Amino acid sequence: MPYLLGIDVGTSGTKTLLAQDDGRVVASATVDHPLHALKPGWAEQDAADWWNAAVTGIRRVLSEAGVRPEAIAGIGVTGQMHSSVLLDAQGQVIRPPILWCDVRTAAECREIEAAAGGRSRLIELTGNPALEGFTAPKLIWLRNHERQNFARIRTVMLPKDYIRWRLTGEIATDVSDAAGTLLFDVRARQWSGPVVESLGLDPSWLPPVFESADVVSTVTGAAAEETGLKAGTPVVAGGADNTCGAIGAGVVKPGQALVSIGSSGVVFVPTAKPQLHPAGIVHTFVHSVPGTWYVMGVTLAAGLSLRWLRDELARVEQLAAELAGTSAYDLLAAEAQQAPPGSAGLFFLPYLSGERTPHADANARGVWFGLSTSHKRAHLIRSVFEGITYSLRDALDAIRAMDVQVGEARLVGGGAKSDFWHQLTADILNVRIGRTERDEGPAFGALLLAGVGSGVYRDIFEAVQQTVRLRDAAEPDQEAARGYDERFRFYQSLYPALKQPFADLVRWQA
Ligand code: XUL
Repeated sequence: MPYLLGIDVGTSGTKTLLAQDDGRVVASATVDHPLHALKPGWAEQDAADWWNAAVTGIRRVLSEAGVRPEAIAGIGVTGQMHSSVLLDAQGQVIRPPILWCDVRTAAECREIEAAAGGRSRLIELTGNPALEGFTAPKLIWLRNHERQNFARIRTVMLPKDYIRWRLTGEIATDVSDAAGTLLFDVRARQWSGPVVESLGLDPSWLPPVFESADVVSTVTGAAAEETGLKAGTPVVAGGADNTCGAIGAGVVKPGQALVSIGSSGVVFVPTAKPQLHPAGIVHTFVHSVPGTWYVMGVTLAAGLSLRWLRDELARVEQLAAELAGTSAYDLLAAEAQQAPPGSAGLFFLPYLSGERTPHADANARGVWFGLSTSHKRAHLIRSVFEGITYSLRDALDAIRAMDVQVGEARLVGGGAKSDFWHQLTADILNVRIGRTERDEGPAFGALLLAGVGSGVYRDIFEAVQQTVRLRDAAEPDQEAARGYDERFRFYQSLYPALKQPFADLVRWQA
């Protein structure tokens, strides 16, 4: 029975997953890596940390499962989108990769839109406006601020491409990750000559682009020695963490939707053709399924808002959870249920890290609105769950307004572990929303792509059909949904009223 290996270069750690072809996971290892924030708004990591984490993870899953390396039919890679991995002529990483959540490039974004002939033209060419997190603004930032490093660039790749390159010695990328660089023509699924040229970048820096399930190359002898894998094992192009997360949850066809509540929150809807948002409020990227695209809204501080609440204001729950051997998040969810739906008129705006969808605004900040002496801890806690979920509804509504069909949804990520949050998502989004039996994240989608590339499955649809099972589904409670609908409209009125105060606030928060 063949085994498949998936590697996910996440932001907090790299996860390696080994599964059988029926989808049964036999071993999993996550190795954390640090994030370096040298200045407020900056975020960098060391590519060497990713590789070391992958090597440790591969060795660990092989020994834990007792699987012979020759039993592995293929390897798939996935990872954080947009983060810049830059190599020089000697194949050295030029500087620590600048991450997707780094917002230093606001000026460069304006520069790019001007160079490309305006914001609308850029959206026309790449599917998206310039956002601080994307890859191209990081290259222009280097040109503006680190000229020596810029002059050394010979290759631009994404985090998962770096791992594949270390495994195979082959420089490549895939359509789904290339789409997040802002240098890619999402309609044509190839690099955008006009954008690359207008920015004065060298097209030879951009790797050959593969469809995600294509085999790019095989594991080299040196990498085999380092990892314990077998030399010659096929490695596929792989895909972005969001597309692989969707595949792993079985969201591969138009009409489906994925809602992910991790550190960030994502609403992901596959489409049969590239559908552009005229104002660029929603991202239009390329799915790892051939002939398929997707639209996506991202809320930057979803689980992150709850983690902030836990760390800063819920010491009691943390201690109680430690004593009881349970999770502080479970205790917070239980406490939230002591407050009524709507938190008695208390609203939380989850813009702790600025926001992407629908308000691309790095200046936005978190807000509790409507506090009164009658509010108890339970109201504060519930309002955070509700505010995060309203922000997902905001993203979903922006997608619905594009005439994109949104049918059956699936919930994944840390938020999906909570029954309370599952039902709340159904009620606030007003959709039927299922959960999968296993939720292994993007690494699982990556190993399914490896299964397609190595011929274990006929295509992605067969891979999903043979491995992904639904656990349960939550139906919206119609009365709750009506109540939330009205409150959501009010929530929506708060950002426009605060946009200018958020901008004015910057001088005290720099
Ligand atoms: C997507 C995005 C994030 C990263 C997180 O546009 O920036 O979801 O991919 O890893």
